Amino acid sequence: MPALNDSHPFRARRRRARVRLPLAFSLCAALLLGTPALAPAAPVHTVVGPAALAAGPVPATVNPLPSLAPVFAAGSTAVLVNKSHPLNPLRYAPSDLVNVRGSGYYLRAEAAGALNSLFNAASSAGQGLTVVSGYRSYDTQAALYDYYVRTYGQAYADTISAKPGYSEHQTGLAVDIGNAGGSCGLSTCFGDTPAGRWVAANAYRYGFIVRYPNGYSSTTGYSYEPWHLRYIGPTIAADMRARSFPTLEHYFAGNPASGASIKSGSDLLAVDSAGHLLLYTAPQSGSYRYRTTIGGGWSNLKQGFVVDWNADGVYDILAQWKNGVLALYRGRAGGGFDGLRSVGWGWADMTITVGKLSRSAMYPGVLGYRPDGVLRYYANSTGGALGGFVSMGPGWAGRGITLADWNNDGNNDVLAQLPGGALLYYRGNGAGGIAYPSTIGGGWQVMTSVAPAYGYAGLGTRGLLARRTDGTLNYYGFRSGSWIPPRPAGSGWGPMKLFR
Ligand code: DAL
Ligand code: ZN
Repeated sequence: MPALNDSHPFRARRRRARVRLPLAFSLCAALLLGTPALAPAAPVHTVVGPAALAAGPVPATVNPLPSLAPVFAAGSTAVLVNKSHPLNPLRYAPSDLVNVRGSGYYLRAEAAGALNSLFNAASSAGQGLTVVSGYRSYDTQAALYDYYVRTYGQAYADTISAKPGYSEHQTGLAVDIGNAGGSCGLSTCFGDTPAGRWVAANAYRYGFIVRYPNGYSSTTGYSYEPWHLRYIGPTIAADMRARSFPTLEHYFAGNPASGASIKSGSDLLAVDSAGHLLLYTAPQSGSYRYRTTIGGGWSNLKQGFVVDWNADGVYDILAQWKNGVLALYRGRAGGGFDGLRSVGWGWADMTITVGKLSRSAMYPGVLGYRPDGVLRYYANSTGGALGGFVSMGPGWAGRGITLADWNNDGNNDVLAQLPGGALLYYRGNGAGGIAYPSTIGGGWQVMTSVAPAYGYAGLGTRGLLARRTDGTLNYYGFRSGSWIPPRPAGSGWGPMKLFR
């Protein structure tokens, strides 16, 4: 059985919450959802970009939350170093530096190997590259920064050079590159050369990102540097690209606030047979651990969803109640949830799932069908109440539907469980349309709950969490259009209503 906490702080109010009238219900629910008592969490850093993140364009991604906490360990290839986050310790020096391709410049071994592959691939594509700078110690960076300050004044120096302790070059994971012929060296015109364009388009394959892209100075704090590559590892580089995150700041800041109750796309919410709403933390490995009781009186829930409905970086709860109310409980950055806000009525006989179908959509909408079996997509154009729907064709009655990115192209696809057990895949085109289906699984009639999971098996991973009739939970990871063999994710979930 999933572990249960003995103290249910909201048990006494459960009976009152059974009142079906929407108004009375909303009052009760607002009370119940006040601020849940959260178990003390491990200390976490607050994510603050060097400048207002809101100033940059909203990442055009259907799956905006990476389920990934920013990494501040200096020795991690995923470390975030910027004007708000110096290295810790400030004089950090990596221990595995190697001479990159005999250039006399050094990088950490993993980054050096990846850069070697990148240079070889560039060469095969007819692009000659050269290394212009690599690892720089604290003292080297200090001398460089001082030189820029003396030459240009501090204000300008701060747009082109990091202070010592604040440079990615000190991690041994950043490299400056240029054309082998030397043209456009350390100049923005490098980005317009064939080699610069090749690098921008292909660096992710080798685990690198162009760290200071054009147009994002207000986010990164630095001018456009098409030559400055940062090794972040192929998983994150590919994930950033697939989901159109322009900078590392956007990628990490897309995470739920550290104090929020639901911290990850793989946290699990469930209602037990007594109507308690329970929160389980995303497992580091193995199965879920109980964290807290969020509320009571949830027995009349038809289906619940965890979603960032208003795109504020904090996960919200969307509840489809049996009385037909589609209710939003907005997550608070500091923990807890706002009271009920109705975003729709008359949803009692709808079978639904939640997510974006279009890259240009700011907020996730609802995909679903009535007993007539006509699939409809309801866009969420305000982060609040739903608008009208677009009809997507008949024949969906009796199917289980899930939005997830099966083929890893950054667009949500529709997965449909047929009553006979076949699992169909409808490729999403990222513009609201879906293609003709193909079959990607069989035997899924034993799955009584299927939910997309981001980050369950590590950084940037995607897959499904599916519960069988025997109450076991299994994780089915996606590659790019194929399955990773399933792994058990727990048992005893039979009596629970699992959020999706
Ligand atoms: N030029 C980059 C920002 C550095 O100094 O690390
Ligand atoms: Zn650089």
